[in-house]
Amino acid sequence: IRAKIVVDRDFALSDLDRRVFGAFVEHLGRCVYGGIFEPGHPTADAKGFRGDVMELTRELGTSIIRYPGGNFMSGYNWEDGVGPVEARPKKLDLAWFSTEPNTFGTNEFVDWCKATGVEPMLGVNLGTRGPDEAREYLEYCNHPSGSHFADLRRSHGYEQPHDVKFWCLGNEMDGPWQIGAKTAQEYGRTALETAKVMRWIDPTLVLSACGSSHRQMPTYGSWEYEVLDHCFDQADFISLHTYFANKTDEIDEYFGVIDQMDSFIKEVVAICDAVAAKRRSPKRIMLSFDEWNVWYKTHKIEHMRKPGWPEAPALLEEIYNAEDALIVGGALITLMNNADRVKCACLAQLVNVIGPIMTETGGPAWRQSIFHPFALSAKHGQGRVLQAKIDTPTMVTKAVPDMPVLLAAVTDDPATGQTAIFALNRSSSESLDVEIGLRGFGPNRTLIEALELHHPNLKASNTKSAPNTVVPRPNADVTIEGDGLRAKLKPLSWNVIVTK
Ligand code: AHR
Repeated sequence: IRAKIVVDRDFALSDLDRRVFGAFVEHLGRCVYGGIFEPGHPTADAKGFRGDVMELTRELGTSIIRYPGGNFMSGYNWEDGVGPVEARPKKLDLAWFSTEPNTFGTNEFVDWCKATGVEPMLGVNLGTRGPDEAREYLEYCNHPSGSHFADLRRSHGYEQPHDVKFWCLGNEMDGPWQIGAKTAQEYGRTALETAKVMRWIDPTLVLSACGSSHRQMPTYGSWEYEVLDHCFDQADFISLHTYFANKTDEIDEYFGVIDQMDSFIKEVVAICDAVAAKRRSPKRIMLSFDEWNVWYKTHKIEHMRKPGWPEAPALLEEIYNAEDALIVGGALITLMNNADRVKCACLAQLVNVIGPIMTETGGPAWRQSIFHPFALSAKHGQGRVLQAKIDTPTMVTKAVPDMPVLLAAVTDDPATGQTAIFALNRSSSESLDVEIGLRGFGPNRTLIEALELHHPNLKASNTKSAPNTVVPRPNADVTIEGDGLRAKLKPLSWNVIVTK
């Protein structure tokens, strides 16, 4: 079957914000302890940061990392995680029914981000706390000196402020599972007052308010509207969260989660703009999709809690397979195609806990299947996203009656002259013969790279002993043709083609 993609160099959708390739580190299971931080590990540095995980994080290409939660954020007292390690308290974490040793905290996280080359994103606890502790935390992190909390940071060995720009105003505050959950009115007011005082300390901040915990929440829509009605003037972003599930174990139906993600984004944009319209405001609230991933195999209570308040238990250790990687690849295409409003997104999470990276405590680290579409998108998705016109056959599914077989996004980097085409063939039986028209790019283009992610067994996954089972491989069926390209995409394959 055939399909066609046409782009024109003069018609860009938007610049692609690098923050769209973010990830997430929560004090949850083995994400921090045994994930990024494991003193005594053979690859660990003097601070206890695992070198192998740092290296894989760099290869993943993630730009910004959200911390310290997640649900954990809503019960976290940041003071417990700073200062001399021997004086830090062990506390019960009511989000994950674990014991939190607090041997890793904000300063260690910022050090880790610097060493890894990523931007830190922090969140304030608006579950058990409010504007007062938020302003103190910000003063500790960003104020240069001459005040109690700035000087406390300096006494802890951090003379220079951390200068963290991007802050989350709480986490999933509408969820009954959240420590200190709130109504839209309670949260909207708190978010407004918290943001206001935070900006008085540091006017350069970027602040993100909590949207609904997910699209199926009963208050979805009205929550976003009411929260923004309160805090519109102080918020830059609203958050979206989604976890994809393979509910019926049929790949065609599973693919529908990608189209639903696209609808979710467009709905939240409409709500943001409705609040703006009511105020006759030209301001546009941007979207921070700060938790997204596949998560269903370990979405059961026994994977979320272990008895006895253990430290760093193995929780949410989802093993990803080939079909999950196709979903993640498709979701990345959707994020890129909404680059005009989605200016930040975090794959949840980074390591061990629903993560693209897996480790064995004391042992090696390896790439899960979903690592690959993310790393390739972050590497080649540069510059701006072009308006792609796509002519594709459709297929009928229960979730999406008119599902396009081909999903694609095209980026173009004026700095390097490179153009990248990301394409997912969702047909399970047919190859797609795709004609790609690159208008206005001039003749004599060269093919830099063509890779496909495809595995005949959708359930195949990468393991410690076979870490390279699901990996991208060259696609030899791509040729330069005229001022464009022709590519043959295997059934159930995610592809990236780079030209110059
Ligand atoms: O990422 C796992 C959890 O999912 C996060 O802590 C929470 O915000 C979401 O419900």
